[in-house]
Amino acid sequence: MILFSRNRRLRTNESIRSLIRETRLSTDDLVMPMFIIEGKNKKETIPSMPYIFRRSIDLAVEECKELYHLGIKAVNLYTKVPEELKDNTGKEGWNRDGLMQRAIKSIKDSVPDMVVMPDIALDPYSIFGHDGIIKNGKIDNDSTNIVLAKMAVSLAEAGADIVAPSDMMDGRVGIIREALEKNHYTEVGILSYSAKYASSFYGPFRSALDSAPKEINDIPRDKKTYQMDYHNSREALTEVYRDVEEGADIIMIKPGLPYLDIVSKVREVIDLPLGVYNVSGEYAMLKAAVQNGWLDNDLAIIESLTCIKRAGGDIIFTYAAKEAALLLDN
Ligand code: PBG
Repeated sequence: MILFSRNRRLRTNESIRSLIRETRLSTDDLVMPMFIIEGKNKKETIPSMPYIFRRSIDLAVEECKELYHLGIKAVNLYTKVPEELKDNTGKEGWNRDGLMQRAIKSIKDSVPDMVVMPDIALDPYSIFGHDGIIKNGKIDNDSTNIVLAKMAVSLAEAGADIVAPSDMMDGRVGIIREALEKNHYTEVGILSYSAKYASSFYGPFRSALDSAPKEINDIPRDKKTYQMDYHNSREALTEVYRDVEEGADIIMIKPGLPYLDIVSKVREVIDLPLGVYNVSGEYAMLKAAVQNGWLDNDLAIIESLTCIKRAGGDIIFTYAAKEAALLLDN
């Protein structure tokens, strides 16, 4: 039989395969999310996230030095604050001496070239565990935006390079941009979680920060009134277009692996850098399978992250960033 086309010709050995490879994963693509706690020399494990820790600022700084040495040049910061600092307004979020502000400053002082991207949202600071202020049993969009803008200015003052609003309030990118401009933080960028879905895959993250929505009277138990409905795809474009108009510098899709159709669709129409968040539940699933001996850790990590890049992600937020950097280096 004469076959004119045999696709396997270009798969015969690794040299040929690497010659025609369309996507290359690099440590440059990766951002490491980190959880910060109060104290000194503290490192706490998170049961649903093996090998991920909550660290006090001093140890977070040490970790940043190591990450930078491995080629990871950006970290995304989250704080776990003591219960007594939480209220309905999230005011701890813009405390000049708050945990986040001190963490940013310490990391920038020790590793100045590390891109520091703190999260912006109320959930770690909210008694209700919501990303916004509760008014009449609802998450109030407009009063929340005012607080988010204050947080952004405070984080910029602490030295943040890029602020990362993950709250999904309408109009917050524009309001944050305006506040940064007015306060002369013209070079602080905004990475907007533009299409963030109400997802069950955030479970391990919420236990890491103790930030899950609380079971209180008529307060919603989920985030479906502000995060997106996972049945929808076109709606992601509406969200993304709005954030671009409002001045976002980078946009983000979240979660990652189950949402690669959204990533690829957004990539087709948007020219800004595109972030993808390989979230805590995705990490937990992989590690659980590895612990059972059902998946090869190293292969599964590199394949997952490469597929996110293939779908169109430029910047990948992943808890496996450090492991991937070590693997890519070999
Ligand atoms: C909250 C926030 C969440 C994540 C990042 N920022 C959780 C949520 O929306 O409830 C999830 C990240 C992850 O699961 O890894 N503003």
